[in-house]
Amino acid sequence: MARIGVLTGGGDCPGLDAVIRAVVRRGLTEGANTFVGFRGGWQGLFDDDTVELTQAGTSGILTRGGTVLGTSRTNPMSRGSDGVQVIRDTMSRQGIDALIAIGGDGTLRGAHDLWQEGIPLVGVPKTIDNDVGGTDASVGFHTAVQIATDAIDRLHTTAESHNRVMLVEVMGRDAGWIAVCAGMAGGADAILVPERPFAITEVCERLHHRHERGRSFSIIVVAEGATPRSADQGTDHGGHGNTLEYATVGGISAELQQEIEARTGYETRATILGYVQRGGTPTAYDRMLATRFGTAATDAVLAGRFGTMMALHGTRIETVALEQALQTRNPLDPDIYETAAVFFG
Ligand code: F6P
Repeated sequence: MARIGVLTGGGDCPGLDAVIRAVVRRGLTEGANTFVGFRGGWQGLFDDDTVELTQAGTSGILTRGGTVLGTSRTNPMSRGSDGVQVIRDTMSRQGIDALIAIGGDGTLRGAHDLWQEGIPLVGVPKTIDNDVGGTDASVGFHTAVQIATDAIDRLHTTAESHNRVMLVEVMGRDAGWIAVCAGMAGGADAILVPERPFAITEVCERLHHRHERGRSFSIIVVAEGATPRSADQGTDHGGHGNTLEYATVGGISAELQQEIEARTGYETRATILGYVQRGGTPTAYDRMLATRFGTAATDAVLAGRFGTMMALHGTRIETVALEQALQTRNPLDPDIYETAAVFFG
């Protein structure tokens, strides 16, 4: 029998509630286990801000977006050893045996640091950016790709009607996964990603080429973190500090709109999809992934497999050491990019 604490940290995404539901349900079928949710990510452990997670309380949340626990980018190590002691005290006051931390790179790094301080926990990867290492996919990514693809489909018809170049800016501060996957699914004519700095001259050449072939409209998908080849990469990005916060990026499509119109003379419009990519109901795929990760996380806690993260490898759910998962980010698959590039221009 165990009492397990659950928290969601970092940016929200669809599928978090499905993980929480699965964690609780699995625990209840495996014995008299109880669950406590911490509100607002790691901040909830500093503040001892809790909510009891029961079967009734977590029923009906499978399809919800966001997180019933709330989230924050609080770094659990920001208060040094005093802060770690506060977390230990909260856990012992609540009678908690172990934690399940559901989050992206920042939250999982915090989890890893706490694990090294001797706090028993396991992690569940979530991020629409799909850049957490050690797993083929993270909760939320599939839904973001679907939302972006739906938007590209809609922008396609208006681009075609008006003979315009349509820039679609998607999220991805450091990772081009959403841009490449939604771009391929939406038939993009160019995709600009952080991993491959672009040359504006080449982008414009592709547009000319398309026009020469009689296509009078184009769709360009651009990740918010994409940079031109000559730019000093990374200057837009804030570092990790006392919080897991980042400087906001975004808006590159507005600059590209002006540049492309000036260079080609083609009428160009930009659409920034923004937070709509993180909102609303998760896709069936994300509900399944979240459910599988959530049940596996409870199993890992009950088996004492601490310091691990749930991971998707092929079609199997496995556990990997947090240490190993955090060594590298999940790199953009070059094969997927090259396949999408077959259709450029
Ligand atoms: O990490 C996911 C992400 O969606 C990034 O793509 C984006 O830059 C960032 O979160 C923005 O999140 P927020 O404004 O909530 O910090």
